[in-house]
Amino acid sequence: MADRTPYIAANWKMNKTVAEAAEFVDALLPRIAATQSDVVICPPFTALTAVVERRYGTAVKVAAQNMHEEDSGAFTGEVSAPMLVELDVEAVVLGHSERRQYFGETDEALARKVPKALAAGLEPILCVGESEQARDDRETEAVLERQLQADLAAVESGDIARVVIAYEPIWAIGTGRTASPEQAQEACAFIRDVVRMRGAAADEVRILYGGSVKPANAAELLALPDVDGALVGGAALVAEDFAMIVDAAG
Ligand code: PGA
Repeated sequence: MADRTPYIAANWKMNKTVAEAAEFVDALLPRIAATQSDVVICPPFTALTAVVERRYGTAVKVAAQNMHEEDSGAFTGEVSAPMLVELDVEAVVLGHSERRQYFGETDEALARKVPKALAAGLEPILCVGESEQARDDRETEAVLERQLQADLAAVESGDIARVVIAYEPIWAIGTGRTASPEQAQEACAFIRDVVRMRGAAADEVRILYGGSVKPANAAELLALPDVDGALVGGAALVAEDFAMIVDAAG
């Protein structure tokens, strides 16, 4: 894994009230006190503050799950980078396949959101990944390359290493069907090649695998040379399970 610090993120999606979020963090913190990894929790907007307040003085970072590219304006239902920064949020998930699929998130919007997040001092966790159809049609690399080129189009090559990239094959998300280690390694290595071609310090970019990561398969996935961490959905809803995945990162 070169000398990249492992990055383990809990994507809660639309789960957990403030009370449930607080309970999770209180259960998690003592279990991960010794970790050397970056541990990131991505709560819904409503629970951001509860998690931020509990993690002060710990290694845990907090990420939002989405962000609008404008600072303010007539965008009902949206939240902006300055609003997240004000809460002491450090990162933001961008381009998750559920946002692309259900909420019309486009590569054009992501091309504006990624540099906006960086400029605001938020670490973008940019998600890319192919559908089952694209994989069957042997178009995985074409899809990944298209998404990366589009979403990073306005990011200076010197800033790309500040973006965390999550490889999330859509067919593996929430399905219990994890990518095989070969598939995960191949895709993450390809992503590294694409960002290298963009002039990035590719060996510094953290590339995560996401899609049905659980305690039972985390160690094998995290040991892959180009997999620097995990974006965990379902298994990140239970503090004990997420702590085991953090442990698996070593
Ligand atoms: P999952 O979700 O772990 O439940 O498959 C991963 C993700 O969507 O980030």
